[in-house]
Amino acid sequence: MNAMTPWWASASFWRKTAVIVTALSFIVLIVLTLDSMAQMSAGSDRVPAYSVINKRITYVDDAEAGHKMPFVGGDAPLFGKALSEEDAEALVSLGKKTVQAKNCMNCHTLLGNGAYYAPDLTKAWLDASWGSEAARETLMLAFLQDPEGNARTFGSGRKMPNLGITESEARGVVAFLKWMASIDTNGFPHNFMPIPQEN
Ligand code: HEC
Repeated sequence: MNAMTPWWASASFWRKTAVIVTALSFIVLIVLTLDSMAQMSAGSDRVPAYSVINKRITYVDDAEAGHKMPFVGGDAPLFGKALSEEDAEALVSLGKKTVQAKNCMNCHTLLGNGAYYAPDLTKAWLDASWGSEAARETLMLAFLQDPEGNARTFGSGRKMPNLGITESEARGVVAFLKWMASIDTNGFPHNFMPIPQEN
């Protein structure tokens, strides 16, 4: 180093700065990753625990947020049977694996990810097209196992093919869709029309 070189222009200063900046960025990344994981896991503020499938989920106006928000109400067990947290997780997990195995994202979006051929499934459980809350479970089960025979109008003007989903897989998918509908997605999808909510 030349005696005239100021300290801030020396190689050793910039070497140390590079090491410190890299180390700090690394720590910030780890903290952000842990924070995101905490916000995304089931059982956190925005993502309810899997046993939420035992509850009634509605979609209500939230004046403060300026959009609709999922609201977890009283008991309304899926298929009439309340499940423990473990059993609920197993059922939702079967649904999630079925959704992955049958590649629903090839046509649909889930939480906005996927293809734009068919409707977004994030709030499918709350979709007005199921007609009424009372009929919904049965209609969804029938539709998933035989979409051609139980075609409804979800506004796409397209038909969903039969994907050979068994009844137990269909039950899992319905549980997965119910759980997903309870996630606070900041009003996504925009302008979604929920099922008529009696009382
Ligand atoms: C080849 C494309 C395709 C694939 C793959 C597909 N779907 Fe569909 N799905 C559609 C179309 C098209 C519609 C709209 C049907 C209508 O409007 O009658 C639809 C409608 C639906 C609906 C009703 C939508 C609503 O708003 O309530 C659900 C639920 C659904 N699909 C679930 C699934 C699931 C779960 C899978 C994977 C197991 C899947 N779909 C795979 C094309 C597909």
